[in-house]
Amino acid sequence: MDDLVIDAELPADHAAVDEVVRRAFAKEPKVADMVAAIRVSPRYRAGFALVARADDRVVGYVMLSGTDLVDDAGNRREILTLTPLAVAPEYEGRGIGSALVRAAVEEADRRGEPLVVLEGSPRFYGRLGFTFAPAHGIALELPDWAPPEAAQVYLLSGYDPLVRGRVEYPPEIAALAG
Ligand SMILES: CC(C)(COP(=O)(O)OP(=O)(O)OC[C@H]1O[C@@H](n2cnc3c(N)ncnc32)[C@H](O)[C@@H]1OP(=O)(O)O)[C@@H](O)C(=O)NCCC(=O)NCCS
Repeated sequence: MDDLVIDAELPADHAAVDEVVRRAFAKEPKVADMVAAIRVSPRYRAGFALVARADDRVVGYVMLSGTDLVDDAGNRREILTLTPLAVAPEYEGRGIGSALVRAAVEEADRRGEPLVVLEGSPRFYGRLGFTFAPAHGIALELPDWAPPEAAQVYLLSGYDPLVRGRVEYPPEIAALAG
């Protein structure tokens, strides 16, 4: 994609983002609802919700937002989780999804975050540098249908092995499973 530009979403993009997410997740309208709910929650991180623009329109979207990591002693810290990743169906297979994930991870690295967690296909995200989260002491509670390998983490340059524990989603994300 020659004219692909990735940058932070602006309020003016919200309607177009909503449409892309609804079309990418046609059978899961709750995903677009989640995006709207996170935006107005304390978990939203400005600059971590990115749009892919091409042909003068929004063609893809990725959001990193805050979630809790709770260690064995009950200590809680906020880390970033990647959800959702969406590409308009007619733009799939052109590298846009991968470019959005790379841009989001780079931004997290620049801002000194230790890691990014997600649930998703190990085939897709493994190519982009994600690895099996439990191998690094990070536990994610997955939906029944997801294989254990879906729990993944990207270790950034600010990673510290002491950053471990159980991921506890805020209500905006937990609502997806409900
Ligand atoms: C998944 C998605 C974001 C990929 O975007 P994309 O721009 O097509 O991705 P890229 O062009 O960078 O990469 C394409 C590769 O991803 C693979 N891929 C696409 N969807 C996949 C999925 N759900 N699981 C595993 N691999 C997938 C393609 O087969 C292709 O692999 P290939 O290069 O070996 O042929 C896009 O298909 C989409 O929005 N899907 C619907 C929503 C969704 O499932 N989001 C991900 C949930 S976290």
